[in-house]
Amino acid sequence: MPPHIQRAVKVWKIYLTGYTAHTRMSSILKEDIAAITTKLGRDVHRFAGKTVLISGGAGFLGRYFLAFFRHLNASVLKEKVRVISVDNYITGSQETGEHDPNISHVWADVVHPLPVREDIHYIIHAAGIASPVYYMKYPLETIESAVTGVKNLLELARKNKGLEGFLFFSSSEIYGDPSPMAVPTPETYHGYVSSVGPRACYDESKRLGETITTIYHQLYKVPTVVVRPFNVYGPGMGHADRRVIPMFAYQALNKNPIPVHGDGRQTRTFCYISDAITGFLQVLLNGKRGEAYNIGNPDSEIAMKDLAQVFTELVPGASFQTISYPDTYPAGEPQRRCPDLRKARSHVGYSHSVGLRDGLKRFIAWAETEPGYRA
Ligand SMILES: NC(=O)c1ccc[n+]([C@@H]2O[C@H](COP(=O)([O-])OP(=O)(O)OC[C@H]3O[C@@H](n4cnc5c(N)ncnc54)[C@H](O)[C@@H]3O)[C@@H](O)[C@H]2O)c1
Repeated sequence: MPPHIQRAVKVWKIYLTGYTAHTRMSSILKEDIAAITTKLGRDVHRFAGKTVLISGGAGFLGRYFLAFFRHLNASVLKEKVRVISVDNYITGSQETGEHDPNISHVWADVVHPLPVREDIHYIIHAAGIASPVYYMKYPLETIESAVTGVKNLLELARKNKGLEGFLFFSSSEIYGDPSPMAVPTPETYHGYVSSVGPRACYDESKRLGETITTIYHQLYKVPTVVVRPFNVYGPGMGHADRRVIPMFAYQALNKNPIPVHGDGRQTRTFCYISDAITGFLQVLLNGKRGEAYNIGNPDSEIAMKDLAQVFTELVPGASFQTISYPDTYPAGEPQRRCPDLRKARSHVGYSHSVGLRDGLKRFIAWAETEPGYRA
């Protein structure tokens, strides 16, 4: 076969693999979006005819938000929700998903003021550099997206007199390495964080982002809320994301030993994406203005060694080994991380419903169909 035909066949095969993966992804995504819509109930109608600006719309959480709004337009709302998704693609994917004429994708950096001229009703600031390996690589960009980014978007919020909600994505990392007495960690815990440590660019900029958000509420009555997510995972996390679950899945699916950092006794809790997105939207719509909320799944606290063991049970042929921390990973990681969710439960009715094992099965079923997860 002539080389140009061989190349064409190869491209066609890659296209077909991607198409199949996309179709299978759709069934998991569809179930997740349906679960979010059902849990939100009548509140979804509050988006009818409104405009939402979301920064970080090409990221893991951003793309789930877009899929949710796309679903509302396709199947739920008579008056469509308009969405402006903004991203500078520093870590995000340029794949925009299915077309919806009500959703615009804009290349922009939130570090600069956005020239938006239409009325905005909700702003979701999800732009950031969330994966430890990447925030170590881009420390100044990490600080800027949280601090300058949130200030620019709050200025935009201030000018929009019809604004109904502003959501800032902070992180459970603002608690640092909490004292054992403060685990599960309530929102009232002030944190134990180094201002000069290797994680400071992320932790401290999220803390300052929260401060700026709170001040705009106090001074200008911007209807702000803050969420502090505790390790969200799910389909849509790229194989190169470098956060723990996609990294374990990539190694397991490729039959490489899963690398567990240190002694593997450090714990995290993991919250499945559909529970998390439901919680974020509940906080945006019904959270007390000027306040912060933990969102996560406290029942899923697990040591990294035990998490690797679960992968060996779910992926045939998988194994794991403990290794020293690599230089690319920021030192000083918290030993325990578990949210106290009483506030989110009582203020906005948040509850999680997907257990860790079920969520991992969904994630692995999706990752198996993704070309990127095959070495
Ligand atoms: N996913 C989690 O478990 C988790 C946990 C705690 C906090 N958060 C926070 O939630 C937000 C979203 O998380 P995610 O998992 O979707 O992260 P992500 O890294 O997948 O997506 C973030 C997106 O923001 C974009 N971005 C970064 N800097 C930008 C800038 N200056 N201007 C415009 N776009 C920019 C990136 O290109 C990327 O597409 C982040 O702020 C993150 O810190 C997430």
